[in-house]
Amino acid sequence: MKGFKAIAAMSLNRVIGDGNTIPWHLPEDFKWFKKTTTGHIVLMGRKTFESIGRPLPNRKNLILTRHPMKLINGNQEIFGQFKEWRGGKAVAKHLKKPYQLFIPKVKARGVQDLLVFKSMEFIKPEEFECEVFVAGGAQIYEQMLPACTDLYLTVVKREVNGDALFPEFEDKFELAEVLRNEDEFEIRHYQNSSLNIEQPF
Ligand SMILES: NC(=O)c1ccc[n+]([C@@H]2O[C@H](COP(=O)([O-])OP(=O)(O)OC[C@H]3O[C@@H](n4cnc5c(N)ncnc54)[C@H](OP(=O)(O)O)[C@@H]3O)[C@@H](O)[C@H]2O)c1
Repeated sequence: MKGFKAIAAMSLNRVIGDGNTIPWHLPEDFKWFKKTTTGHIVLMGRKTFESIGRPLPNRKNLILTRHPMKLINGNQEIFGQFKEWRGGKAVAKHLKKPYQLFIPKVKARGVQDLLVFKSMEFIKPEEFECEVFVAGGAQIYEQMLPACTDLYLTVVKREVNGDALFPEFEDKFELAEVLRNEDEFEIRHYQNSSLNIEQPF
């Protein structure tokens, strides 16, 4: 069965963020992120979404928040005038009030869809034709890594100060391949060796 894939970048001391931003500038790593996720789905927490400040183009953006209307009302620049709410079958069935937002303005900027969910429980990777990449931040990685089949992890080869950390994953994931090794960072592909995909949550 198809599962989630996680994509992240962390420093040697496990930092992934500081003050709601990423505390390094590595254009080559951003290119890798863009290339890997374009045409697919990026799933992220509300704080990461707000720190980016816009939906990522040429991808479906799935945003997790327990307060969808607060997110929408607080980001009118992005959400603008939305036309309709609708949702996937599983979401509709279980949540009664699904959140899928259709925004012509955003579509015009090349964003395929912007979907807001208030629970991760009913986001089913098999309901999407493309891959679902879990793209942070710390809270979302913490909760979703156990449900990820693969982890694409950029290790930034320095220690950095920060307030958002990548969770422990080493006991559940095995290194499959080092995809790239540069002076400043290394990109590693891990696979989840302990996943019970039938009951990921
Ligand atoms: N280096 C990297 O690869 C990378 C990638 C992404 C982000 N980051 C960094 O990570 C930091 C942000 O991480 P964070 O942990 O503070 O925030 P986050 O994980 O991006 O977002 C947390 C928010 O997600 C929502 N949420 C969490 N669990 C949920 C659940 N079970 N159901 C529904 N909604 C849920 C809540 O939103 P509400 O409060 O609205 O309910 C919560 O406040 C930033 O510094 C960012 O730059 C780094």
